[in-house]
Amino acid sequence: MSMTKGAAQPKILTEPFKIKMVEPLKITTEAYRIEKLREAGYNPFGLMADDVFIDLLTDSGTGAMSERQWAGIMLGDESYAGAKSWQRLESVVKDLSGMPFVLPTHQGRAAERILYSILGGKGKVFISNTHFDTTRANIEYTGAEAIDIPCPENMDAESDFPFKGNIDVAGLYKLIKDYGRENIGAVIMTVTNNSAGGQPVSMQNLREVSAICTANDVFLVIDGCRIAENSYFIKHREALQQDKSCKDIARETLDLADAFIMSGKKDGLSNMGGLLTLRDPELATKCTNLLIISEGFTSYGGLSGRDMEAFAAGLEEVFDEDYLHYRIRSTAFLGEGLKAKNIPVMWPIGGHAVYIDAAELYPNIPVHEYPGQALVCDLYENGGIRCCEVGSVMFGKYDDAGKLIPARKELVRLAIPRRVYTQSHMEYVLEVFDSIHSVSGRTRGYKITYEPGFLRHFTARFEKL
Ligand code: F0G
Repeated sequence: MSMTKGAAQPKILTEPFKIKMVEPLKITTEAYRIEKLREAGYNPFGLMADDVFIDLLTDSGTGAMSERQWAGIMLGDESYAGAKSWQRLESVVKDLSGMPFVLPTHQGRAAERILYSILGGKGKVFISNTHFDTTRANIEYTGAEAIDIPCPENMDAESDFPFKGNIDVAGLYKLIKDYGRENIGAVIMTVTNNSAGGQPVSMQNLREVSAICTANDVFLVIDGCRIAENSYFIKHREALQQDKSCKDIARETLDLADAFIMSGKKDGLSNMGGLLTLRDPELATKCTNLLIISEGFTSYGGLSGRDMEAFAAGLEEVFDEDYLHYRIRSTAFLGEGLKAKNIPVMWPIGGHAVYIDAAELYPNIPVHEYPGQALVCDLYENGGIRCCEVGSVMFGKYDDAGKLIPARKELVRLAIPRRVYTQSHMEYVLEVFDSIHSVSGRTRGYKITYEPGFLRHFTARFEKL
């Protein structure tokens, strides 16, 4: 009998897999970690992974593959053109997306660069429920503008609203009118909405957006890195969706769009891979030309045959309803545990990550001293946990006078790799948070001492104030 069905749900979170291969974790002292973080310029992206105990930096490419995926690695056909592994990936993706043109890329941002360098350019405007940072960077790099309009409920971190990843539909309608539909490069729906708390988007919202785009002849893209997780939320939270499979819901989502971009490193359950699917033959030809110039031939993009095998198998496995139940429940286990400890978390808990409101947790650290960065550093020093700031370090800008224009929120993301950590690892993370309360009264944060022009959070260096 399936663990997800039947009357009695077990209280303990049972992982629906057993472990065949283990990877040792190094135990370090606090003094060691303080020194390593100082050497890394107080930016956890600069730490060596070996010095991290629980790595919650990202859920991207960090998952554990299944025995079927590893078996696929041995079957990889490395032919330059027309490889069997490509046929397999193409057929799984066509079946999922229903779109006729499938372009493989080495990861999601390569698909973004190809599509947005064609749809973008100076004078174009892109509108999204929230652009992920590489999406925004790829759009802005072409000279176009990227505007985020998450739904108003997204700003209320405590309400129970089930689809805080939605776009503001009235806002979308108005922006298309104000800018003129001919100037809209695309509307991009990110499911789930990563940078706005990993929150899901409802089928109703997707349908409304699709109707507006169709009526105005505006191109609609689904950024579906986490489309299986989003489908699970739709199935379990939205009226009239319960009887569908998560895979059918994903297909229904994609049926609404003109293009689908995906990083296989999330819901592809693989360590590398990305894709772009399209309906329009002319656009597909333009994108294919760019694909060949920069990624590789049409039947492998930036991928080896074995990567394509793992990606194809992952795309099938991710829609297993028991897996998805475990996945969403295990993220909620961490989030609910933090909430019970009075850590301000974005509520309800999203699919792949728990987001903490660092400005609320550290109320005395001014925004220009980056409270999120302070929490990220404290978690590493106190417990060897690595995570990522999603606030003014990532999204802050400067005005003409060089003053920081802060992000909408000062969040910290604890992203959970797929099938990697057990419940006891999550219990350890909860325990480390007990030590955070004692430092939450601090008044000083961090100062940036080095930053590049684009995507500064990856390589910026900081000084402790
Ligand atoms: N879109 C979304 C919503 C993403 O979350 C990511 C990556 C990308 C596009 C780009 O894909 O990494 O394969 O090039 N997100 C990772 C993260 C990096 O940590 O959230 P990629």
